[in-house]
Amino acid sequence: MLNNISTGVISINNKDCISMINPSAQKMLSIKTKKVLGRPFMEVLKEEHIPIAEDIVNRLKEAKGGLAERQITLSLGDKKMTLMTHASLLYDHNNEYMGMVLVFDDLTQLQKMQRMAAWREVARRIAHEVKNPLTPIQLSAQRLRRRYLDKLEEDRDVFDECTRIIIEQVDDMKHLVDEFSAFAKMPSAMPVPDDLNIIIRETVALYKQAHPQVEYLVEIDSGLPQLELDRSQIKRAIVNLLENATTAVEEDGNSLKKITVRTAYNPQLRIASIQVIDTGPGIPRNAKDRLFEPYFSTKKGGTGLGLAIVSRIVTDHNGFIRVRQNHPRGTIFTIELPVRG
Ligand SMILES: Nc1ncnc2c1ncn2[C@@H]1O[C@H](COP(=O)(O)OP(=O)(O)OP(=O)(O)O)[C@@H](O)[C@H]1O
Ligand SMILES: [Mg+2]
Repeated sequence: MLNNISTGVISINNKDCISMINPSAQKMLSIKTKKVLGRPFMEVLKEEHIPIAEDIVNRLKEAKGGLAERQITLSLGDKKMTLMTHASLLYDHNNEYMGMVLVFDDLTQLQKMQRMAAWREVARRIAHEVKNPLTPIQLSAQRLRRRYLDKLEEDRDVFDECTRIIIEQVDDMKHLVDEFSAFAKMPSAMPVPDDLNIIIRETVALYKQAHPQVEYLVEIDSGLPQLELDRSQIKRAIVNLLENATTAVEEDGNSLKKITVRTAYNPQLRIASIQVIDTGPGIPRNAKDRLFEPYFSTKKGGTGLGLAIVSRIVTDHNGFIRVRQNHPRGTIFTIELPVRG
């Protein structure tokens, strides 16, 4: 039974050695069972995780009823994970200590979804509260210009510049607010059977024309079956990924400016995948965790909504998106979509 649940389970015997790890625990913690089974658990832990384990054991000893719960955050490679852990002590019917069981659930996805919901609410409010005063501000500045610009003599330049800045900056803010409200109001996807390869070819063709100095390659898997897609939203997702990839290779000093869009189909898992691969500078290490959050941007003038929108569209299609490093350089975004039927 423990083989099929998504909860991770690890048991430790009365000699503090690991006696069982279920498949979910192996997957979540990237553990190789063969290497750790039968060994003392303190020995197999990474150094930075030892204080967490000690804390759990201490809590267990102090806890009445031999049960302790704690939310923990672990870094595994460059991934951060939040787990809810429940630890309990085991005794046999003679009250002899038999060991411990650690049960844990991955909260990372749940937290991401909660953050996403919070952001949509923020976006909605910003759109609502900030947008209203912007037009009167702009109109007032324009009126001042019309009325006084030609009447002023000595301060004319200052007046000209200041009013112009107000009008321009308000324009930028309006644009930002529009993006926010579009994000907050984005309609849910309406998927119908469609051909992903065609959508990709069409979208990449637009970029080829607009950026002749970048080499765009399309590698299509012709075995891809029809998928349930909302054509305009999938297009938007691909555009956002291509936009980021194009900026990445264009701003990079490297002369190789290549972007590959690849589709593939895994008939066993019934999963179609789209990869957007660039040869840009790669994702900054500390940015990886927040990449898909709204408003996270390292670009001047970036809204940081691009990847948040992509993530939302992919989720609406019951898919997943992930990012990893390309070798020798650059970034790979992979979208996986289920094939129904
Ligand atoms: N292909 C890429 N290579 C390197 N960094 C990337 C890539 N794609 C995204 N990023 C990083 O992720 C951040 C967030 O991307 P996102 O598309 O959400 O917003 P943005 O591009 O900054 O703003 P906007 O989409 O409004 O132009 C970017 O600012 C950049 O730091
Ligand atoms: Mg972007």
